[in-house]
Amino acid sequence: MNNLRLDKLLVKAGLGTRKEVKKLIKKEEIRVNGQVIKDPGFIVNPQEDIVSLGNKEIHYQEFYYLMLNKPQGYVSAKVDNLYPTIMELVPQDYSHLDLFPVGRLDLDTLGLMIITNDGHLSHSLSSPKRAVPKTYLVEVRGELAEEDKKRISQGLDLDDFTSLPAQLEILESGPISRAELTITEGKFHQVKRMFQALDKEVIYLERIRLAGLELDGDLELGQLRELSAEEVNMLKNYPL
Ligand code: URA
Repeated sequence: MNNLRLDKLLVKAGLGTRKEVKKLIKKEEIRVNGQVIKDPGFIVNPQEDIVSLGNKEIHYQEFYYLMLNKPQGYVSAKVDNLYPTIMELVPQDYSHLDLFPVGRLDLDTLGLMIITNDGHLSHSLSSPKRAVPKTYLVEVRGELAEEDKKRISQGLDLDDFTSLPAQLEILESGPISRAELTITEGKFHQVKRMFQALDKEVIYLERIRLAGLELDGDLELGQLRELSAEEVNMLKNYPL
């Protein structure tokens, strides 16, 4: 974690706007390592220095990582004119942070979504170079057979591009079939288009895994929680 100005740290810790935290500093309410600090530009080392307001220690964390179980009917963007966004599901406690969704899921897709303010991680998870695997639980109309598995593993011609080799695990085949599909790219409507190329209509799509991270089965639709340090490391270092 980098050193930063005291006023900036207080804003990032959620104590108020720059103007409000400057007032707190002026009123001699903020201490660093027990000393009252009157200079808003005082440089703090967040790893070593203890910043407090009265006798309450201020918790500062540079990056936040949330796992959301995305429900249908929410857009995975910061703003939208038509539909509610997944950012509306993030509790107020995080509102002072500049959080954003990592990648996109369609309006009608459910499941694992990461929300963070770590641009570097977001970029590396979405980078085609890193080929991060994403697994979807899919329900389609029609039967799935070994031939579909083979075609998916060879790459499908989707008119404007050919999908990279992907893995299909058939869970159930019948009039409605269930499968897990793992892909390493994320083009617009990719999964739906892949099944369309096999003449199957996707009727349910849920992301259940991303870079080794599983969707937490305890999260109800619309619920979220912070990732543990191990989970963050898993995302940062995948593949280990
Ligand atoms: N593929 C799709 O078609 N939709 C999604 O939301 C994700 C992957």
